[in-house]
Amino acid sequence: MKAHIAVLAGDGIGPEVTAQAVCCLQVIARQHGHDFQFEAAPVGGIAIDTTGVPLPKPTLDLVQRCDALLFGAIGTPKYADPNLKVRPEQGILQLRQALGLYANLRPVICYPSVADASPLKAELLVGVDILVIRELTGGIYFGEKTRTPTSASDLCTYTVPEVERIVRLGATLARTRRGKLTSVDKANVLETSRLWRAVTQQIMRDEFPDVTVEHMYIDAAAMHLLRRPADFDVIITENMFGDILTDEASMLPGSLGLCPSASLGASTLGMYEPIHGSAPDIAGLGIANPYATILSAAMLLRHSLGLETEARALEAAVVKALDDGVRTADLKPRGAAATTQEAGAAVVARL
Ligand code: IPM
Ligand code: MN
Repeated sequence: MKAHIAVLAGDGIGPEVTAQAVCCLQVIARQHGHDFQFEAAPVGGIAIDTTGVPLPKPTLDLVQRCDALLFGAIGTPKYADPNLKVRPEQGILQLRQALGLYANLRPVICYPSVADASPLKAELLVGVDILVIRELTGGIYFGEKTRTPTSASDLCTYTVPEVERIVRLGATLARTRRGKLTSVDKANVLETSRLWRAVTQQIMRDEFPDVTVEHMYIDAAAMHLLRRPADFDVIITENMFGDILTDEASMLPGSLGLCPSASLGASTLGMYEPIHGSAPDIAGLGIANPYATILSAAMLLRHSLGLETEARALEAAVVKALDDGVRTADLKPRGAAATTQEAGAAVVARL
């Protein structure tokens, strides 16, 4: 097949890790007879430097013409002050909104060969394979914000359709996995959570009687995620809870560098990015872990291009590289670690 892929590498380690993912996609294309065209554009701090805004119009236009978006990371120390009017993060939020990417899939898988890299006890990590689905275009992130000299407010709103589409996606995916859905909310305190829970209960009862559903408060979920992570299958939750819970969950595999993501909407145009940030402290050193971005590229093959076989081949090649001990510094605090380029090449060699 022919596919046009936008590459928005962004700031910090973004260009280094996306370069390795592009190499892998090129090899996949060659092996399976596809024609992938890659086109780069600026986003984030680098875009502010050159155009004054974090998401320049030509960048958004390019993405809208493409079949999928491979994204690196954004943020630089130069724009770290949260009081700045123009900030790199706005680029990512504007992309999510402009493309209608309402569902953020964040798989959290513990690979046995790197269990020692996790701060958690290895016995807790056996069989951990969680898919967190974070609502991505609603809630407190996108509600009205106000500020006076003595107060501030962020409005959190959810509508029934916004919740319904997440529940349906979560339950549909749970059916293809272990058949269990955990809906995380704060229904004992928040009205938006009471709506979330009511909608979830109704959809699950009416449309997915074969999927087991449980409801959990966010505070309890944060605890159970560390105490018994293997009990979770698919988790659905609202925007900010999902943001926090997935950074916590990333410690199960042992590194943010192993956690990919897909942001999906109503069409097949999706955005694929590692959940880690731009890591300015190691940018340019060539030591960043490219596996999360490569695994994100596998999700791109699966969700935007419908290439399941190719997606699995790429995921299997990453697992093989890990099994063979090819570890970047985040997974190997002592001794000689693989460089970003070596880790990418190791995946290519195993394809
Ligand atoms: C993420 C990030 C973003 C978020 C930031 C950069 C706006 O933390 O993708 O998880 O909070 O959604
Ligand atoms: Mn986050």
